[in-house]
Amino acid sequence: MDTAEADKRYLWHPFTQMREWCAPGHEPVVIVAGDGAVLRDDRGREYLDGNASIWTNVHGHRHPRIDAAIRAQLDRIAHCSALGLTNDIAPRLAEKLIVLFGGDAGHRAFFSSDGSSAIEAALKMAFGARAHRGETRRTRFLSLGGAYHGDTVGAMSVGHSGPFHRPFAPLMFETREVMAPACYRCPFNRARPARGRDARETRACEWECVGALRGALDDGADTTVAFVLEPRVQGAAGMLMHPAGYIARAAELCRERGVWLIADEILTAFGRTGAMFACAHEGVRPDLVALGKGLSGGYLPLAATLASGEIFDAFLGEYAEFKAFFHGHSYTANPLACAAAIASLEIFDAERTLERIPGQAAALARATSPFWDHPHVGDIRQEGLVLAIELVEDFDTRRPFPAETRLGHRVCEAARRIGLLTRPILNTLVLMPPLCATPDQIEAMADALWKGLCEVLPP
Ligand SMILES: Cc1ncc(COP(=O)(O)O)c(C=O)c1O
Repeated sequence: MDTAEADKRYLWHPFTQMREWCAPGHEPVVIVAGDGAVLRDDRGREYLDGNASIWTNVHGHRHPRIDAAIRAQLDRIAHCSALGLTNDIAPRLAEKLIVLFGGDAGHRAFFSSDGSSAIEAALKMAFGARAHRGETRRTRFLSLGGAYHGDTVGAMSVGHSGPFHRPFAPLMFETREVMAPACYRCPFNRARPARGRDARETRACEWECVGALRGALDDGADTTVAFVLEPRVQGAAGMLMHPAGYIARAAELCRERGVWLIADEILTAFGRTGAMFACAHEGVRPDLVALGKGLSGGYLPLAATLASGEIFDAFLGEYAEFKAFFHGHSYTANPLACAAAIASLEIFDAERTLERIPGQAAALARATSPFWDHPHVGDIRQEGLVLAIELVEDFDTRRPFPAETRLGHRVCEAARRIGLLTRPILNTLVLMPPLCATPDQIEAMADALWKGLCEVLPP
């Protein structure tokens, strides 16, 4: 049995209709190697990694420094428990993260394995801290329309991702949904669609999204635990992007009302939007921040929840008070993954990665600007090295194509045949090159996507 056959026979893939996947005509791409921004399959075909391996990869595949750090750690130990023990790697990583985040002496980092578990920990830390402080009226969370924070039950509960989670609704706790500050489809944006301009630049509004948040907070501020948001970019919602200024306004509203801010930076951290953390664009330091994906450079499953001293302190007490954070994972603070993460953070300094991003982001904007000439491109939005192209049936009304047309999927399949791997979100095309991508590679990614688009939807 070859690999593809074995895959179809034994594996269950995430977010995949397995009936289609296992159908006789479907040939899975079997990735066997990678180097920088390039992936290679078992037939020797090469692809540009146009979505950084589902938004995880940072400095490229097989970066010598991360490879060496993992090998060196492997020569010592791969894993040991962090329950009742520590290792000589995780505390160093925790310190680095807290310093980068601008945390103070009270901050703590709690390690887990994936984004959903980092969010789950953040929710339980916030809820538990309220309970331990005697703030038992504070039981509800607020989160943005379209939010996606992962697939565990708590993470689903603060998400609003419709069809993904609908069957599980009876399992979830209720969360107050607040309108997303996404200008392109905002009902309060009076600006007409304008070709060549990100809808955030032309928006004509009175910050009704901030008003909506204020209203939701005031409608029970003393019953609210925290407001959860993906800062600047709401990934799975369709790469919705927020206007500059929203996070700072939201943080201020929360602070005034004693509501904690939980930032889900699982997608946005580690340079993706041009800064180490998206919240840093607006000088905001949330009370809790969830990190995952790029934390280990995109190498190994590792996530972290950074908590303020105020929240950490709420769990301190005598043993018999049972205030400890009774939550954890077998692989918490895994040394191999932490070694990869430290190496990845060191590369940011050694290669001055953040300084290069404006140039790469400009290359990405230049390479995709011709897409505006396509009649079915409604919006192109970009934050650093995250770029989304939303396809619409009608430009003037912004009417979306029906989901069942699967145009995004078909465009990405066509682009794959010419050497680009990326995944759409419904009919929104996404380019999110690893931070190591050269301007030429970025141009080649845009070119392949354009050809894919023109094959499926001739202009
Ligand atoms: C913003 C955001 N939060 C949470 C998650 C969940 O992370 P994971 O898939 O690692 O559980 C994702 C994954 O795409 C994400 O984009």
